[in-house]
Amino acid sequence: MPFPNSAQLRPMSTHSPAAGAVAHPTVLVVDFGAQYAQLIARRVREAQVYSEIVPHTATAAELAQRSPAAIIFSGGPASVHVEGAPGIDPDVYELGVPILGICYGSQLLARDLGGRVDRSGRGEYGRTSLRHTGVRSQLLGPVADEHAAGDARDRAGDERDEAASRRAAPPAESVWMSHFDAVTEPPAGFTVTASTADSPAAVIEDPHRRFYGVQHHPEVAHTPSGQAQLERFLHGICGINSEWTMSNVITESIEAIRAQVGSARAICGLSGGVDSAVAAALTQRAIGSQLTCVFVDTGLMRAGEGEQVTDTFRRTQGIELIHERAADEFFEALAGVTDPEDKRKIIGEKFVRIFERAAGGITDARFLVQGTLYPDVIESGSPTAAKIKSHHNVGGLPEDMTFELVEPLRHLFKDEVRAVGAELGLPPEIVQRQPFPGPGLGVRIVGEVTPESVETVRAADVIVRDEIAAAGLDGEVWQGFAVLADIRSVGVMGDERTYARPIIVRAVTSEDAMTADWARLPHDLLESISSRIVNEVPGVNRVVYDISSRSFGTIEWE
Ligand code: XMP
Repeated sequence: MPFPNSAQLRPMSTHSPAAGAVAHPTVLVVDFGAQYAQLIARRVREAQVYSEIVPHTATAAELAQRSPAAIIFSGGPASVHVEGAPGIDPDVYELGVPILGICYGSQLLARDLGGRVDRSGRGEYGRTSLRHTGVRSQLLGPVADEHAAGDARDRAGDERDEAASRRAAPPAESVWMSHFDAVTEPPAGFTVTASTADSPAAVIEDPHRRFYGVQHHPEVAHTPSGQAQLERFLHGICGINSEWTMSNVITESIEAIRAQVGSARAICGLSGGVDSAVAAALTQRAIGSQLTCVFVDTGLMRAGEGEQVTDTFRRTQGIELIHERAADEFFEALAGVTDPEDKRKIIGEKFVRIFERAAGGITDARFLVQGTLYPDVIESGSPTAAKIKSHHNVGGLPEDMTFELVEPLRHLFKDEVRAVGAELGLPPEIVQRQPFPGPGLGVRIVGEVTPESVETVRAADVIVRDEIAAAGLDGEVWQGFAVLADIRSVGVMGDERTYARPIIVRAVTSEDAMTADWARLPHDLLESISSRIVNEVPGVNRVVYDISSRSFGTIEWE
């Protein structure tokens, strides 16, 4: 049955605040192709200042239209000397808006304003000692990190020398670098406030025009004073107030949803994940009983997940919820299918059709609530991103769908969504839950998805997550889960020879799932995971640990 209305699907525009939302002082982060642009935007938000990412091709007039309180140029992989290297409309320097250039952004700013950028010796990668020149700096604070100064002292030898070298050495701190070009002469009007072995003008400042450039990356955790430097720029230099707080976000979102939906009805698909849960809770605060949620139980959920979602939403949130138990239909559709992309498509399509069927009963719904996040908005706007997997979530919308979208999270990063969820009173087991793919355990079984294989991987998954939590490592592991492989190996259990399938344990550290590395789990933790799995999960005789970084292996196996 098709959706019961004919309103056009009207996603909100990508770069403007939600209808009815209060405009906050905005920092525009110009993306020069670095993996760091999102991180910079998040760090700015951590300073309670609203930020958005914009492409470097935006004209100065387009940037000015957003009335930015400040502009930050991100790093990027190019060299300013290479033909076709990404640039910026030079009129941006005439807007009277403060600018901070980071890494490539600093080189571009220096080059555009008449300074010199050269290839520096061998380049600098990783932790680097940044030596303050002694010229008064607005950006750099007192040296917080004694590490670099300590290195100099260690080299100085005995205690008497230490006192002398402490007096003589200019303050230095440890920062994170990754560059081969460097600013060698600052443009007129700038002073050099810090340098490194390979970057004579590592920090440059023009307080008169409020233009600043740093060769290091203040946004990464490996630069201990980086957040303080960003906050000095935002609050001290640009005078921006801290008003991007989650309680303001909630109040404003509720007003925006009310203004958009009016007295109409809305539906929301709950997936069990954080995003749809928070979007639903926020919408419920705004329009109460005008919202109905639909939870499609695919049979591919983690242990206890279906009950947890229905219980939370029906009982503690008082939301009207339709629970569609559809496991049999999914298993039937997946019978004999082994190709990952086929599985994803089948699960995504089936999900939407069952959702449609359930929603068909709500004949007057005109709006569909979705938990689209800001990174999804940025990524879907990127024409160059190669498609690796067809992602399915509740947003796997068919083209013939005719709802107006309500997307209260489309300006938020994941950590902000969690904070909003906690403030709305959602329980920690929902708000802190690990990311989980829309196709569920279906893409954690290599080979055919059957009720038995799902049972096996589900039982192993609970063990992996429980053991990581019991070791107190939940906060450090972004995702930790089990994958069932479709190979067999010989083993021995008791006196019996076994020939069974292995479980692959995958645990990764990450900040945003864009980059991820395998988690260095302690050996005794790996041992308890392994022995519990082979002892408690029937049909598994071996456990292996995946040590692939996301630079070549995606987080999920399919
Ligand atoms: P990959 O496997 O691409 O995963 O490294 C990156 C992150 O995305 C999650 N993931 C999905 N999330 N629908 C989702 O909503 C999907 O189809 C999907 N596939 C992967 C994955 O768990 C990881 O956090």
